[in-house]
Amino acid sequence: ARPTALPRDLDGVRVVVSAGGTREPLDPVRFLGNRSSGKQGYALARVAAQRGAEVTLVAAHTAALPDPAGTRVVRVSTAEELEKAVNAAAADADVVVMAAAVADFRPADRAEHKIKKTDDDSAPAVVLTRNNDVLAGLVRRRRPGQLLVGFAAETGDAHGTVLDHGRAKLKRKGVDLLVLNAVGEGRAFEVDENTGWLLSSDGAERSIPLGAKSELATIVWDAVSELVRAGGR
Ligand code: CTP
Ligand code: CA
Repeated sequence: ARPTALPRDLDGVRVVVSAGGTREPLDPVRFLGNRSSGKQGYALARVAAQRGAEVTLVAAHTAALPDPAGTRVVRVSTAEELEKAVNAAAADADVVVMAAAVADFRPADRAEHKIKKTDDDSAPAVVLTRNNDVLAGLVRRRRPGQLLVGFAAETGDAHGTVLDHGRAKLKRKGVDLLVLNAVGEGRAFEVDENTGWLLSSDGAERSIPLGAKSELATIVWDAVSELVRAGGR
């Protein structure tokens, strides 16, 4: 079958996508990490490139994924490395999409040598320190017209539903678009399908039907493309 032609509505638009999960080292062989596969970020990068964008993909740790065709891939490991790479690429970007699972905390000390057991049956305590919020930094230094897209994976709890948490995060983060995923019960992480909402700072809320991560990517780029045509933010 002939591949369906995609729109070239992102021609020349400079896009940065972060993807995957960061790793925060405890010692030379151990780290704190997370379950992000990177598949959603890679799908976003691939679809943007297919639609004509100039894409830089800042890739933290992912499942074994092939580089998306036509993108520049910058590999990073820790949240601090990701922050440097994203900030450098964002300096002349029109759109930044933060799909990466960035660790909120890192071990306060990184042992120079492998941590060993001692004879007294004791266990070391891990002390954590905060990482910078990369997206918050982008919002503070936003270029005129630059569009910023965040991701949030939320569960409902005593304080509100998934949507309540998503709406609050959209406001708190100051982004133009927030992709909100419902997580828990095997959803979103390490699977090929994703579901949720796309929340806009203008109050628009689109529900994202259960579908392939490439379909979610299409919905995100459709919304970005509309905003780009409207002259950015
Ligand atoms: N993010 C970031 N830097 C961090 C943490 C998160 O840039 N240190 C980005 C993520 O890539 C995502 C967005 O911020 O696009 C929201 O991440 P999330 O973890 O949902 O939000 P947090 O503000 O960290 O709030 P929470 O306490 O719920 O984890
Ligand atoms: Ca977080």
